[in-house]
Amino acid sequence: MKEAVRVTDGIYWVGAIDWNVRNFHGYTTPRGTTYNAYLITGEKNILVDTVKKPFYGELVERISSVIDPKRIDLIVSNHTEMDHSGALPEMQKLTGAKILASRMGVEGLNKHYPGLDVEMVKDGSEIQLGGKTLKFIDTPMLHWPDSMFTYVEEDKLLFSMDAFGQHYATTKRFADEVDQDVLFQEAAKYYANIILPFNARVLKTVEKAQELDIQILATSHGAIWRKDLGKIVQLYTDWANNRTKEKAIVVYDTMWGSTRIMAEDIAEGIASEGPEVTILKLTDTDRSMVMKELLDSRAVVVGTPTLNNSMFPSVADMVTYMKGLRPKDRLGAVFGSYGWSSGAVQAARELMKMGGLDMPFGELTVQWVPSVEERKQCREYGRTIGRKVMERKEKGD
Ligand code: FEO
Repeated sequence: MKEAVRVTDGIYWVGAIDWNVRNFHGYTTPRGTTYNAYLITGEKNILVDTVKKPFYGELVERISSVIDPKRIDLIVSNHTEMDHSGALPEMQKLTGAKILASRMGVEGLNKHYPGLDVEMVKDGSEIQLGGKTLKFIDTPMLHWPDSMFTYVEEDKLLFSMDAFGQHYATTKRFADEVDQDVLFQEAAKYYANIILPFNARVLKTVEKAQELDIQILATSHGAIWRKDLGKIVQLYTDWANNRTKEKAIVVYDTMWGSTRIMAEDIAEGIASEGPEVTILKLTDTDRSMVMKELLDSRAVVVGTPTLNNSMFPSVADMVTYMKGLRPKDRLGAVFGSYGWSSGAVQAARELMKMGGLDMPFGELTVQWVPSVEERKQCREYGRTIGRKVMERKEKGD
C-alpha cells in the first residue's frame, strides 16, 4: 500500500513517483520524476494540486492512508499543466470539492477540462480555513502564465509549484535526505530546461518570497526543501542573473569527422587561454544535457556540417531548443565543414542570435577536410573565443 508522508503537523505529501518517465516534454529525465500533491488536514481538509492523470489511483491511495478522500473540502490548483492538473476532474468528481486557481488558472482549467467547478483567487488574497491561513501569490510564467504559489502562514510553508523542483524520483521526500550532488545537478538541469527563459520572473518572485517567513519549500517535483533553504534560493538568484563561470561548451555533430576535428581544435584553442571547456557531440548527447552544461558557461560554440544546404538534424534540433530557452549574457560562435554547398553555419548563427546570444565572432567554415593550415585557424578561432570568455568578468550583482 502506498502511504502519505508527513511534511509537518497536519500537512502530508500525497503525490506520485514516476520511476519510468524518461522524456518530459522533450527534456530527458533519466532519474524519473515525482508529481507532488499535498494534503492539509484539520477542521477542513485541503488538497494542494493533483498528479498526472495515470497516477490518480496512487494519489487516492496515499490520501486514504490519512483520511477518506471524500472528506476533502477544497482543492487548490497552483498550475494548469497536466502533470499537476491531470487528476483534477476525477478528484472533483470523487470529493465534490471546489477548486481554487489564479485568474489565468481558471481560464486554463476551463479550457483543459470543460465543466470543472473552479473559482478564482486574487493575487495576494488570503483565506482562513480550519485553522490555516492560505495566501495566494501569482507567479506568472513560473512556469506558465497561470502559475501561483500558496503559502501556509501557520506552518511557514510555501507550495512553490514548479520552482525549486527537480526531476528526481526517489523514495526520500526531503532534500536533506538524498545525495546532495545528484540533487543539485538535477536542480540545475531543471532550471536550465524549464525556468531559464523566465529569469526576470524568478528575480521578482524571489523578491516577493523574501517578504514571507519560509521554513519549508514544498515543490511540485522532486525533493522538498526544509533545511538550508538559502542555498537553493541563492542558486536560483545566481542562475536568474546569468552568473556564469570561465567555461565554454563546444557542441557539434559530424558526418565524416571534419567538424569533429574542428570542434576539438577550437576547444584546445579556447582552453589554452584559460577557460574550462566541455565538448559535447550531439549524436551521443541529449539536448537537455547541453542546456544543463550551458547554465554556468559563458560561451557556447556550435559546430554543424552542411547536409542538403541545412544544418545537420541533431544540431538543428538543439539550436532550436536553445533558442526557445533564450540563454542571455553568453557568447555564441559557429563553425562547421561543408562539401558541395554551405549554409548550415549561417542558419545556426541566425537561430542563436534570435535566441539572445552575443555573436561577436565570425563564422568559421572549412570545405571537406580541414588542412593543417585550417586546423591552425580553428585553434586561433578558439583562442579568440577563450580570450573573450576570460575578459568577461563574473557578474557579481
Ligand atoms: Fe510541473 Fe509546469 O508543470
